[in-house]
Amino acid sequence: MESRLLITGGAGFIGSNFTHYWCETYPNHRVVVLDALTYAGNKETLADLQNRPNFRFVQGDICDRSLVDRLLEEEDIDTVAHFAAESHVDRSILGPAAFVQTNVVGTFTLLEAFRSHYQTLAQNPNRRCIFLHVSTDEVYGSLSPEDPAFTETTPYAPNSPYSASKAGSDHLTRAYYHTYGVPTIITNCSNNYGPYHFPEKLIPLMCINMLLGKQLPVYGDGQNIRDWLYVIDHCRALDTVIHQGQPGETYNVGGNNEVKNIDLVRMLCQIMDELANDLPVQPCEKLITFVKDRPGHDRRYAIDATKIKTELGWQPSVTVEEGLRQTVEWFLNNRDWWEPLLSEEYQAYYKQVYANY
Ligand code: NAD
Ligand code: DAU
Repeated sequence: MESRLLITGGAGFIGSNFTHYWCETYPNHRVVVLDALTYAGNKETLADLQNRPNFRFVQGDICDRSLVDRLLEEEDIDTVAHFAAESHVDRSILGPAAFVQTNVVGTFTLLEAFRSHYQTLAQNPNRRCIFLHVSTDEVYGSLSPEDPAFTETTPYAPNSPYSASKAGSDHLTRAYYHTYGVPTIITNCSNNYGPYHFPEKLIPLMCINMLLGKQLPVYGDGQNIRDWLYVIDHCRALDTVIHQGQPGETYNVGGNNEVKNIDLVRMLCQIMDELANDLPVQPCEKLITFVKDRPGHDRRYAIDATKIKTELGWQPSVTVEEGLRQTVEWFLNNRDWWEPLLSEEYQAYYKQVYANY
């Protein structure tokens, strides 16, 4: 059966990749994107979908209960793919309130609205209905080098206001299945990278700074480890979970690609040196600068994705070398997308973070 999806945060990084992925893979499915277009949301990213008959974009806040109720009902939504969030750790350190509002109150609002809407949906037992809550590995806290990777039963230990707010939203999502029987699923994914990644995050920031000849700020000693996943692999995992995942379950999603930050930045420098011919500073490694560490900086994340592999048959398909090359090429070829994002607001944010660190 054709699904009818509400995608929250579909104008952001992962949400827009997922929206494109879904519209290409399932052209007959109805897709409604709800996005507040905060600094991280960009309607231009979805411009090529605007004229599709099965696609609708609505600018609005997930905390707006009457808007969410109306969309669920008038669009006869059976699947919510919930990406909308404040997502950047550094911004959560500067101002946590927006994180509690969108990530906790916003998720609660969506869950309440879907709980009510589900009473109608449940009358048709043949219709698959899912509330997919897209979450992060950061809820599990920080690993030391010898610790085993996070599994779905690793206790929660969030360390930043961002991860604490995501942990709160995960707990609410879990509770709505256990208490009310709402068919929720949670995915906890590692660091994504790829096209349409907002400039504030490590990989796009490094690519853009190389293209502009600006310093490449590496926090602390650069030995922190992240487990990198190409965003399209994440989209494939979410598709698998929407179609085959068990309501009430959690699935960890990861790239099996643990890399130290400094090694990742050096890889990016090498790829950029090779692909770009008129860089302001070359070799790019000359731009690497160690700066003050992020407060509370988690040392290592690593995902054990055995469950989604053995139960649902998903595994990542893109190696970090291939994915980084494609990403560098994308930033080289899509200046029109990222240049307007380096706005005055963004420059003010940049100064604030990098002056503090
Ligand atoms: P992003 O910051 O790029 O995009 C977030 C989107 O949500 C933006 O389009 C923004 O306009 C929208 N939004 C924010 N507040 C809203 C509100 N109140 N109402 C409606 N829309 C709102 O984020 P991302 O990196 O694409 O992450 C998407 C989701 O995936 C988040 O829930 C995040 O926690 C999770 N996640 C991200 C990663 C990663 O590496 N980026 C990894 C694992 C999980
Ligand atoms: O693990 C999943 C999480 O990955 C998601 O839940 C978050 O939404 C997403 O933002 C990301 O969080 P990180 O904090 O890991 O990503 P970020 O790109 O901000 O940083 C990656 C690593 O690089 C981290 O160890 C901090 C470091 N860093 C980051 C920036 C922006 C630097 O050394 N210098 C920088 O300028």
